[in-house]
Amino acid sequence: MITLKRLKLEDIEYFSKWWRDPVLRKLTSGVLKPISDQEIKKYFQEMLANKTEYHFLILLNQKKAIGHIAFRGRKDKSCETQIIIGEKKYWGKGYGTKAIKLGLGEISKHNYKKVYLEVRPENLRAIKAYKNCGFRPIGLKRYPKNKFLPVVLKMSLGPKSEDI
Ligand SMILES: CC(C)(COP(=O)(O)OP(=O)(O)OC[C@H]1O[C@@H](n2cnc3c(N)ncnc32)[C@H](O)[C@@H]1OP(=O)(O)O)[C@@H](O)C(=O)NCCC(=O)NCCS
Repeated sequence: MITLKRLKLEDIEYFSKWWRDPVLRKLTSGVLKPISDQEIKKYFQEMLANKTEYHFLILLNQKKAIGHIAFRGRKDKSCETQIIIGEKKYWGKGYGTKAIKLGLGEISKHNYKKVYLEVRPENLRAIKAYKNCGFRPIGLKRYPKNKFLPVVLKMSLGPKSEDI
């Protein structure tokens, strides 16, 4: 059974592992530069202190932490989401899909006008999981200055956006 729990400072141990995992990093930021304990701590603390972001630990059977789902409110009242199942042996079992659906339920009270995400166009497993939850492709967005992630597929739950 998959449940979500609001992320707390003591959960940093999982992130020290997941944020260093090269397979996960290749599928997300693409940046493989080593990251120090101090950097992880700083980024993690900033993430939790941000009042416009909601972070959840994904739990299997109420106790095993397997991943993280984030919802980041933007100034235009939209919200960007991203998920990782950090424990790779649990990929492809429907847990990601379930966690996204639970997360969308958790944030529904904030009445964001749009929930969107950016995903690598070749990350077919993630794209399928997001589609399972009602996201649809909006288009490609290019980041020519970012050599690690030059193009993403934008997907959205809300009305079609021209902002791609
Ligand atoms: C993306 C991620 C969260 C998805 O969670 P998951 O539990 O593995 O995914 P699910 O089992 O819920 O759903 C995966 C779907 O993709 C399908 N799938 C798996 N591999 C696939 C592939 N190579 N091509 C196409 N579809 C694929 C599965 O059949 C399933 O679809 P179905 O439910 O209709 O059968 C997880 O795999 C993960 O954390 N990956 C690494 C980090 C990442 O890529 N995060 C997204 C960044 S935007």
